[in-house]
Amino acid sequence: MSRVIGVLTSGGDAPGMNAAIRAVTRSALSRGYEVYGIRDGYKGLIDGDFVKLDRTSVSDILARGGTFLGSARVPEFKDEEVQNIAIKQMQTVGMDSLVVIGGDGTYRGAYSLIKKGICVVGMPGTIDNDCPGTEYTIGFHTALNTIVEAVDKLRDTSASHHRCSVVEVMGNHCGDLALYSAICCGAEVAIIPEDDFREEEALAKILHLDRVKKGRHAIIIATEKLIDVYALADKITKMSTFTGRATVLGHIQRGGVPVPEDRVLATRLGDKAVELLAENVSGHCVGIVNDKIVSEDIIEAIDKNKMYKSDLLKVFERIA
Ligand code: F6P
Repeated sequence: MSRVIGVLTSGGDAPGMNAAIRAVTRSALSRGYEVYGIRDGYKGLIDGDFVKLDRTSVSDILARGGTFLGSARVPEFKDEEVQNIAIKQMQTVGMDSLVVIGGDGTYRGAYSLIKKGICVVGMPGTIDNDCPGTEYTIGFHTALNTIVEAVDKLRDTSASHHRCSVVEVMGNHCGDLALYSAICCGAEVAIIPEDDFREEEALAKILHLDRVKKGRHAIIIATEKLIDVYALADKITKMSTFTGRATVLGHIQRGGVPVPEDRVLATRLGDKAVELLAENVSGHCVGIVNDKIVSEDIIEAIDKNKMYKSDLLKVFERIA
């Protein structure tokens, strides 16, 4: 069966999304399918903002951060009338299937189209590593690398001044960026949503380290939306011999050249997404589990919790 595939990136951009678009495009073209890029996620689907992709349209994008198709958050896509408009736009170019690259919200948008009979496959693309159905998302490793480079630099200045750095990282409701970076950077404390260790406990640990004079400096890494890092840094300054300093890494974590892990993952997942469409499998999301590329029903995946590695937290607690 011949296919006309649309590909879009949605939600927060992530390094490796371009590699994913490239893989989907080239894998589809090699099977004789037509491919359209959809600009700005579901917004472009509603507006009919499509661009025909050929082999060269996706040349030289593999190593670029961001997404050349653009991305957007489109809350109005929850509205059924808006979904129907999007489907009509697909019909104008004979688009019969979609590959959507993004996070949880992207998968929910996909599910509303699947219910209307559209053939859709989801790919996990977000720095947060919070997608169900996969151990790792496209963009996670690059963002982790960015955080590690930044915190290593903070350590230099922190150690020179007997300071405690309180660093806020992204992750939305997932603590992986904080926990993995805490392990990589030798942080003393990780504050993550999956555990109830919060400001009070963090402060107690820093005061204890101060009392027993363990170390010239200390690092706390916290997932966003959990604590006020500035307030905690102030308390540390007032209550210990450390000077507290807060750093919010912010959107810098979303940019940059994708690391090889993200390029390889995006390429493997993109090829798998097209393979599923070739086999007439719709409504699945693709992922990586134990280094195997897998897929499962999108709605079953959404209903499950993201795979959380509780053993990693235990390792961190013993080593920190
Ligand atoms: O989902 C990716 C993410 O970067 C989250 O980590 C963060 O909470 C959110 O997006 C920020 O969104 P925005 O770029 O819309 O401010």
